Amino acid sequence: MIEVKNITKTYVNGDNETHALRGVSFTIDDGEFVAIMGPSGSGKSTLMHILGALDTPTSGTYHLDKHDVSTLSDDELADIRRNRIGFVFQSFNLLPRATALRNVMLPLIYAEVPEKERIKHAKAALANAGLDEDRYNHMSNQLSGGQIQRVAIARALVNNPALILADEPTGNLDSHTGDIVLGTFQRLNKEYKRTIILITHEREVAEHADRIIYIKDGVIVEDGNSHDKRIISHAKRKE
Ligand SMILES: Nc1ncnc2c1ncn2[C@@H]1O[C@H](COP(=O)(O)OP(=O)(O)O)[C@@H](O)[C@H]1O
Ligand SMILES: [Mg+2]
Repeated sequence: MIEVKNITKTYVNGDNETHALRGVSFTIDDGEFVAIMGPSGSGKSTLMHILGALDTPTSGTYHLDKHDVSTLSDDELADIRRNRIGFVFQSFNLLPRATALRNVMLPLIYAEVPEKERIKHAKAALANAGLDEDRYNHMSNQLSGGQIQRVAIARALVNNPALILADEPTGNLDSHTGDIVLGTFQRLNKEYKRTIILITHEREVAEHADRIIYIKDGVIVEDGNSHDKRIISHAKRKE
């Protein structure tokens, strides 16, 4: 599904160049649950922006399904974002004075889906994300942190995207609520066969995925099964 080949990203500000990614390659198959883990400043968000078609690499190629994303125009990138990718961010980006249901319906309004369909799809996505039905008509500012993140996950699911990208989705949650949200990702992956990429700087969070790609200073230092503790401790020794 995803093939990244020798991607680099260099930010240029005046005379100052930052090499955020320095040659990153990997493939991710349909239905995988992968964590991209690394310390602050290692290039995770830069990589997430490229994988999410929010930005393009300085060099290298990125294929999502059969599309070479690295060469697309802004309009084509927007189309990929709307139709193929669901985003979940640390700051939930919900409309506080809209109901849970309405927040989830929003991407479908942009996609010009008829209202009856919108309600049906939004309810199905909320159910998949595990929000209790009696919360659907609560304003999002009347929900708990964990409930809000479930709404954000439902919103990411509602377009039926092939790929879910989550950047530090538990960063603003206490650890118990974070575990529940991570369990939701695991269920979406195992039961609903969603491909999930979870970005995190925390090993405990990354271990909820099946595979961990460990990135440091813009390069991959380890890539392997998350249940193989050797890989992780090896990566930690290099820190
Ligand atoms: N827009 C930008 N302009 C200049 N430098 C940037 C920009 N975005 C990120 N960087 C730099 O690129 C490196 C990687 O950043 P980032 O991808 O945000 O890492 P992470 O998400 O792992 O903390 C850092 O050194 C950061 O300061
Ligand atoms: Mg980041």
